[in-house]
Amino acid sequence: MLDYEVLSKLQEEALGALQAAADAAELDAWRIRYLGRKGGALSEAMKRLAVLAREERPAYGQAANEVKERLEAAFGEREEALKSANLRAELTAGAVDVTLPGRRPELGHLHVVTQTLRQIIAIFGEMGFQVYEAPDVETDEYNFGLLNMPPYHPARDMWDSFWVSQEDQSTGSGERLVMRTHTSPGQIRVMRERYPEPIRVILPGKTYRYEQVSARSESQFTQVEGLAVGRGIRMTDLIGTLQAFASKMYAAGRRLRVRGSYFPFTEPSIEADMDCMLCGGKGCVVCKYTGWLEVAGAGMVHPVVLRNGGYDPKIYSGFAFGFGVERPSMVKYGIKDMRLFYGNDLRFVEQFK
Ligand code: PHE
Repeated sequence: MLDYEVLSKLQEEALGALQAAADAAELDAWRIRYLGRKGGALSEAMKRLAVLAREERPAYGQAANEVKERLEAAFGEREEALKSANLRAELTAGAVDVTLPGRRPELGHLHVVTQTLRQIIAIFGEMGFQVYEAPDVETDEYNFGLLNMPPYHPARDMWDSFWVSQEDQSTGSGERLVMRTHTSPGQIRVMRERYPEPIRVILPGKTYRYEQVSARSESQFTQVEGLAVGRGIRMTDLIGTLQAFASKMYAAGRRLRVRGSYFPFTEPSIEADMDCMLCGGKGCVVCKYTGWLEVAGAGMVHPVVLRNGGYDPKIYSGFAFGFGVERPSMVKYGIKDMRLFYGNDLRFVEQFK
């Protein structure tokens, strides 16, 4: 009788301990402790068979086996229960809460100069001008020669130039390369490509000058060139076009004045001023109390330039203009230093979202 009590005690204790096993390691320890073949509690209990009276052995053996089976079954159940509990815990821990609001991706935006360029392009687009893009690196020939400035022409001094060193040149033609000092070389490219079609294009792009960098000048800036070539194009067409542009860009009724000027590639040449958009022409610091802001260099395309572009100046005429983009933007937005445009300071850039 005593022997059976030991067995049922053992079973009770083992089942209790099994419920307390909370993870795989504890479960394993439990298995070794109770069901282990060597030194496990049940194996030890089996050893009693040897000392029991012969007739008691079968009954005891059977009882011990039953306990063993019960414990094994309980172990299997507990193992399953722990596994699925673990799985459930893992799933809840790694779950994505789809109701959380997402993190907003940082979106960039267009640079103030690009925004302005797009406005300019749209306005000229309404007037029938297409956009033509010419290269930033030009030959001496295109930047100067074909624009009526042969080598040693004094007017070349109007544009301090960045030359591309000979070693860097892959053309092999021996022609000097220069970072274009203005967008005007594009005039020749358009004419040579479009002849004998009439032309109305604007050429926006970066230009480069070897200048002392200051609040008012940068060595890289943006220009927009305009070119119209056809039959019977006159100075009044040029002035009217600039006038219309100024009104659309800066406010209706902007007044324009033109002064005689000089450029080797236009004849006659003019410079166009717009009444100051800040003081309305009354005079202020920005317009240096003149009431006027310079907006563009312009003129009628020089016959030599027309001919270099392939257009016979006896049949065709044209006008051209060129203006910078940063300076008028400085006036419009009250930007005090030109270096801010390409200084990559987000505090500046983000003001133009
Ligand atoms: N290319 C001139 C400059 O950069 C501007 C200009 C363009 C003048 C077209 C006349 C005609 O100063």
